[in-house]
Amino acid sequence: MPQQNTLIAPSLLAADFSRLGAEVAAIEAAGADWLHLDIMDGHFVPNISFGPGLIKSLRKHSKMPFDVHLMIAPVDPYLTAFAEAGADHIMFHPEAGPHPHRTLQAIRALGKKSGIVLNPGTPVGVVEPLLELVDIILVMSVNPGFGGQKFIHSQLDKMAALRRMIDASGRNIRLEVDGGVDAITAPLCIAAGADTLVAGTAVFGAADYAAAINAVRCETA
Ligand code: DX5
Ligand code: ZN
Repeated sequence: MPQQNTLIAPSLLAADFSRLGAEVAAIEAAGADWLHLDIMDGHFVPNISFGPGLIKSLRKHSKMPFDVHLMIAPVDPYLTAFAEAGADHIMFHPEAGPHPHRTLQAIRALGKKSGIVLNPGTPVGVVEPLLELVDIILVMSVNPGFGGQKFIHSQLDKMAALRRMIDASGRNIRLEVDGGVDAITAPLCIAAGADTLVAGTAVFGAADYAAAINAVRCETA
């Protein structure tokens, strides 16, 4: 039951870091809808990626909404830097704490779309009291920290539960999925109610970015 058109957000983590500007231009030309930017601090997750400086450099080279996934703790001291660097969506993990409701208020106050990210071990109910402040719910279908991991199928039930929660609320909230999404797992996510798909390896690992994006979107080229 796809409810909105499926958006594709390639994750820059899987791009060639020696030529990031060209990579971003290539996926934009290939039909990507959002650019997913994974921020890792080596503390909240066991990997380190990049920060607001890189986002600022890329901002002037792309019109795509920048979908910023913070895997950092703490979150609040860095929100302004990411907003000023050019993030359009700022998403964080409630475990990064300590006060997710306050963090969502702060993101909205910065004029940005706000998102809550649910790890495979995080229950659906965490998001319920936060719905009034949420624009995006991001379901992790891998444990966060690395690209190229295997899709965890048990997260499909979580997506379906969140789809029911969103529909019952009547709110305009996107349901995004991140981790191990490819042409095989994407239709399962869409069937479970997801409307936005992050894909790193499946897009940047392909020879033809447009064909890869269409395949994940479940459309023929
Ligand atoms: C993992 C990141 C993902 C990752 C996805 O912590 O949040 O965005 O880049 O990569 P793939 O699509 O390769 O699983
Ligand atoms: Zn991500």
